Amino acid sequence: MARQKSIFSCQQCGFQSPKWMGRCPDCQQWNTLVEEQPIATSGHSRALPQPGKPQKLAEVNSSEEDRLSCGIAELNRTLGGGVVPGSLILIGGDPGIGKSTLLLQAFSELAKKGTALYVTAEESTRQVKLRADRLGIKTDQLYLLAETSLEQIRQRIKELNPDFLVIDSIQTIFTSSLDSAPGSVSQVRECTGQLMIQAKGEGLPTFLVGHVTKDGAIAGPRVLEHMVDTVLYFEGDPGHPYRILRAVKNRFGSTNEIGVFEMQEQGLREVSNPSELFLAERPTQSAGSAVVASLEGSRPLLVELQALVSSSSFGTPQRTAIGIDHKRISLLIAILEKKIELSLSGQDIFLNVAGGVRLDEPAIDLAAIAALASSHLNRIINPQLVLFGEIGLTGEVRAISQPELRIKEAARLGFTQCVLPKGNMKNIEAPETIRLSGIKHASEALDIIFD
Ligand code: TYD
Ligand code: MG
Repeated sequence: MARQKSIFSCQQCGFQSPKWMGRCPDCQQWNTLVEEQPIATSGHSRALPQPGKPQKLAEVNSSEEDRLSCGIAELNRTLGGGVVPGSLILIGGDPGIGKSTLLLQAFSELAKKGTALYVTAEESTRQVKLRADRLGIKTDQLYLLAETSLEQIRQRIKELNPDFLVIDSIQTIFTSSLDSAPGSVSQVRECTGQLMIQAKGEGLPTFLVGHVTKDGAIAGPRVLEHMVDTVLYFEGDPGHPYRILRAVKNRFGSTNEIGVFEMQEQGLREVSNPSELFLAERPTQSAGSAVVASLEGSRPLLVELQALVSSSSFGTPQRTAIGIDHKRISLLIAILEKKIELSLSGQDIFLNVAGGVRLDEPAIDLAAIAALASSHLNRIINPQLVLFGEIGLTGEVRAISQPELRIKEAARLGFTQCVLPKGNMKNIEAPETIRLSGIKHASEALDIIFD
């Protein structure tokens, strides 16, 4: 009998090779290839339980009412309106960010609609019960199962026939058809594959909790993200109570949709007006603070950017950015130096997004430049002023998407002036309480913002 050959898979990205290598040729990480047994192909079939049959597009049933609300509006929004039957949802995030808390809260609501099974492979049922008591959850339709073997879990599912399922977490369960340790690429992939077949075959909505590696990707193979229908990231700064649930992939709704929560004594509380919360502690009479009207999914979000520019006591000045891409800030500093003629060399520069939020869209450029200039020149920006706009390499201010939504949110919160790209001024309908100042070049901004 031929000896079963083992394979080497990269624990970072899932790349597989017949021989060991020091560096993964796919993701370029060192020392990530680990020897594993290939998945036994005989024994169980990988096909869906019901064989597929060609169907006319018009005849396929796709009623939207199928979505089930999980009682938490912010979670529903991120999922694209609720839980779709048969969907496989992956929730990733750093340890301790609140994934188990969020799912326990959601499942206490879902348990009112049907039988819910919470498989806890990391904590004992007693620990989960203690948490449920703290959260004030009282429901008799929520079942807990402390189990790590996938075969056992599937057996219990067959007996209980639940309507909703959580696996907390996918990295701690294992299937005995493989020799490798729980959490390895092949285990994670195989378990997810089996759970996917079960979810699709039985229409059982399944939530998987996934841990995140140091560099922010879901631990285990990236293929995991391709296998599931929806990937949500739960993120936040451990020092802040705010948590943001972000959809990075969604087969049943729009991505970039976010849900905002606040971690409290009694669990996660929804934040339905995040702008007010993020601006609550804003200093209005200090230099270095600017407000940006950003957009997260379909929701405008007003956030404060804070900059500190101070002369450096070392040869190489520091450049630190929290909540904004580092490279983008270097670029904006270069634009400030070259196109606006502010001399920032020899200055330490710190830029922070208040509230522990992460902003990725280029629309924040204008506000970042304003905050930096304000700190450097020690001049206060009018506290009733909000900015948005992308800045190009020549210092030109470029139009961005959905200006009206941003302006409306700013007006709602009492802002009276808005600096925006001139290109966004065309056919715009804005509330009368807010004055719009369209600009074409970043240098014009400085004349407007300092009063
Ligand atoms: P948890 O849901 O266990 O995180 P994860 O599953 O993502 O690892 O959350 C743990 C953290 O949340 C812990 O640091 C304590 C905090 N927490 C509260 O502040 N209030 C609460 O009511 C609960 C349940 C947790
Ligand atoms: Mg947990």
